[in-house]
Amino acid sequence: MDFPERFANLPDYAFPRLRALLDGHAPGGDVLHMSIGEPKHPFPVWVSSIISEYAHEFGKYPPNEGTPELRAAIAGWLQTRYGVTAAPDTQVFPLNGTREGLFNACLALCPETKGGKTPVVLIPNPFYQVYTVAAQAVGAEPVYLPATAETGFLPDIAGQPAELLDRTAIVYLCSPSNPQGAVASRAYWAELLALAEKHDFRIFADECYSELYRGAAPAGAMQVAAETGADPERVVVFHSLSKRSNLPGLRSGFAAGGPGCIARMQQLRAYAGAPLPLPLQRVAERAWADEAHVAANRALYGEKFEIADEIFGDVPGYRPPEAGFFLWLPVADGEAATLKLWQETGVRVLPGAYLGRDAPGGNPGQGFIRVALVAPREDTRRGLKAIRRCLYA
Ligand SMILES: Cc1ncc(COP(=O)(O)O)c(C=O)c1O
Repeated sequence: MDFPERFANLPDYAFPRLRALLDGHAPGGDVLHMSIGEPKHPFPVWVSSIISEYAHEFGKYPPNEGTPELRAAIAGWLQTRYGVTAAPDTQVFPLNGTREGLFNACLALCPETKGGKTPVVLIPNPFYQVYTVAAQAVGAEPVYLPATAETGFLPDIAGQPAELLDRTAIVYLCSPSNPQGAVASRAYWAELLALAEKHDFRIFADECYSELYRGAAPAGAMQVAAETGADPERVVVFHSLSKRSNLPGLRSGFAAGGPGCIARMQQLRAYAGAPLPLPLQRVAERAWADEAHVAANRALYGEKFEIADEIFGDVPGYRPPEAGFFLWLPVADGEAATLKLWQETGVRVLPGAYLGRDAPGGNPGQGFIRVALVAPREDTRRGLKAIRRCLYA
């Protein structure tokens, strides 16, 4: 029997490609992983005790729409963080992390056609890879928009032809962005919301790095929608405890947006989803209600960003990231630099091209490496110094 063609042209995922690039070569020093964006700072101490306290609830099926307590905690956080009033019962939807939500939202909300044509899903390039499989899964056409130095490391959506925007059903926008650490300003969101209204599309705002900022807290899409009086159905935001609370293995996040969007996402998930186990929802409830651990986490990244600025401050093209936990460092060729670094120092980073797609102007990640600042501070310092010596001597 045949296999589907739908995903046949997907390139290998970034990490198998990295293994294929490096694993045939010996590391040139103590191995240091700076390739994967897996948070390594400690998660809050109360996580384990909450799980044991509620362990008996593993004996129950969790409700699809999340517990009322978790939804209330999330709505409370949206209010405190963004000044946004979201109805806990109709506008907030707990998820198993943001990745599945970013995928399933496309299934639930992308129409089959737009103006009689195949709908377009706009995706920043480079990007978090789930956006493209979501577009392909629904038979939409993914269109990759360069997010480069020339465009402030965010896609220039306003600059696209009206014909393309008219065909657009969904725009994925990651702010703070992975990999570049760029933050969409209020003005950027406001313009995008106005375009969404004019050309009738929805915005999926991937805001999972929203709490790892330097300086001022980034504005959020739902916040700007509320402030500008935009239709709440134009935007779905996605948030996670993976980065904010160092709980990537908890698999907990949420979507929030207009009641129409959320109801359709809930309906699909009632059939096909796997809600977060109840004891883990209890942990999530506590994590959204506590800011102390988030501030401490942010401070640890702040120290590492300072170290990065000291080490790379005079490298031409170095741009201190505004948020997130990655450096997006310019090099002549990302794959060659990654291999050289591995062979000469044992430091493992990711070629930027593995996060991008070939596009008419080339792959915008080609001249970059992505460096994750997740290791402890002194390991991070050692790794960054090795990168500096090896690639920018
Ligand atoms: C940009 C971006 N979006 C979404 C995710 C998914 O995170 P999670 O599913 O753990 O919330 C990640 C994880 O690395 C990410 O970098």
